[in-house]
Amino acid sequence: MKTTNRPDEWKIEQGLAGAELPVLDMTGPKNVPLTIQTFGQLTKNEEAIKAVGDPEKLFTREREGWVGFVEWENYPDKKAAAHKILTSQTFPPNPEFQLGPIPGTNPVLPGTHWKMWHHAVGGELTKIPEDSWATVLKEKHPDMLHLLQFPYNGEPPKRLVTAKEITPNSLHFVRNHGGIPLIDYDKFSFIMDGLVKNPREYKMDDLMDESRFPRMEKTVTIQCSGTRRIEQILLYPGQGDEVPQAPWAEGAIGTATYVGISLKKIIKECGGLIDGAKHLEFYGADTYFKDDKVMNYLVSVPWSKVKANEVMLAWEMNGEVLPAIHGYPLRIVVFGYIGARSVKWLYRIKAIKEPSRAPVQSQEYLYFPQQVGKHNFKLTDGIQIQEMPVSSAIMSPWTKQVCIHNGKIRCKGWAYSGGGRWPERVELSADGGFNWYTIPIDNLSKKRKWTWRTWEYELPCDVEGWVEIVCRCWDSALNTQPTFTRTAWNWGLHVTHSCHRISIYSVNKSRKATQDRLAEFEEAGIPFGPITVPLAFPSQTWDDYEKFWKEHDPRDAEDD
Ligand code: MTE
Repeated sequence: MKTTNRPDEWKIEQGLAGAELPVLDMTGPKNVPLTIQTFGQLTKNEEAIKAVGDPEKLFTREREGWVGFVEWENYPDKKAAAHKILTSQTFPPNPEFQLGPIPGTNPVLPGTHWKMWHHAVGGELTKIPEDSWATVLKEKHPDMLHLLQFPYNGEPPKRLVTAKEITPNSLHFVRNHGGIPLIDYDKFSFIMDGLVKNPREYKMDDLMDESRFPRMEKTVTIQCSGTRRIEQILLYPGQGDEVPQAPWAEGAIGTATYVGISLKKIIKECGGLIDGAKHLEFYGADTYFKDDKVMNYLVSVPWSKVKANEVMLAWEMNGEVLPAIHGYPLRIVVFGYIGARSVKWLYRIKAIKEPSRAPVQSQEYLYFPQQVGKHNFKLTDGIQIQEMPVSSAIMSPWTKQVCIHNGKIRCKGWAYSGGGRWPERVELSADGGFNWYTIPIDNLSKKRKWTWRTWEYELPCDVEGWVEIVCRCWDSALNTQPTFTRTAWNWGLHVTHSCHRISIYSVNKSRKATQDRLAEFEEAGIPFGPITVPLAFPSQTWDDYEKFWKEHDPRDAEDD
């Protein structure tokens, strides 16, 4: 039979292969399907690349004892050389993960582009993808879910996210935009410069000198603004760059006790800010690629935040030396702000007048309105995300799970609010959000200004079949969460803070009929799940059936 259908016609028609769908132009009298962008293979203009020079000399290690650190910000010529190399070739596409199925692998996404870009630029960057993965394997728990192999982005599986109120280091999520620099403690120093009276350089021993700087210890939750992004992706895909849009679930949040000093004390020792400085820009030693350009990881926070002693220079995490993957030997920890501002592998702090214009600050972590997207967005349409709004998530059970219970479904999860607001009340609903049960305070972990609260609750549920369990939190300012994912969907897929919804199949064993049916399964030695497998034995005896109709005949209503 000759057909004009593609073999995957049905999938395409049903929206299961959205990336393949032609764009429809409906502006004329008839619909016109438009061709969609396709990507070719790797191409290289070898001559143009060669003309740039020897990468081993151009892109060298900036400092002895700082493996993987190439400083870009002080060297415009070096940036231009790398840009030339990158624009002298084309790179094959990343795997589609939003409109197509997400791969069932761990690592989920390989980070094809980022690996190729590092290798293409060469020099000190050549070995970074492999070295970074070796650090992941050394420092992280073997059960981590690796969303992106390089730059490494990983989170703990649901069962471990809230297993402890303080997240063990090996299970703390990791969000990287580049490779992991490996820095010698003895060779480490950072500079505090820009608009400060007396710019200075600091070594670790200076920072640890308690006669100069009082020690600070703080338990802080760091949350990435991409946490729970997968809910937005599954509803409506948005911007699909692998690194900025890593498909996070509920684990891109972690809580740890950090030791260090307040950044305010350093600024004070440098004689304070001058010439109207209002922001502090932090420089990370890793290399970030954006739009065929290379740069270090740069963001800024306002002075008001530093002045309030809410920005810390940290070298210890949960009683251990800060792991390399979390910024060894020194990182910034900004309390109550999105994780993006807590810069790792710090090498410079610069006092400036305006918020940083660096891409991570000005082009990413933007919260767009709903009608803004690829077709019309401007960077200035987005709100720069700073404090995370109140959010919560159910870690157990999981969507599509069958739960056999005695009238109460055992639930676990977390609740968090940014900006120094904390969870006051956490509520669960077993009916899609019509009726709510308050989780007793004693079932919530300790209340702290800058941390999440983990919780556990036996949620009353009499009904059976598919039920929607919903979680929401009220924070200390009585803010709560939007009702549906759609309510807060945005092109950048950030800040998924709507009520967390899971659908489970409720089997209530406190009901007699269910108890009997489950006993039948046990006697027959047949597993109950999956729920979709048809019943392997009669649902009732024919005697029963006949008896019922004897008592309830006729089936059709009498017309009298
Ligand atoms: N600092 C540097 N130098 N490079 C980065 O890629 N990622 C930021 C921040 N600091 C990043 C960084 C982001 S987006 C987050 S959410 C946090 O680090 C995550 O911190 P963690 O990896 O220690 O959990």
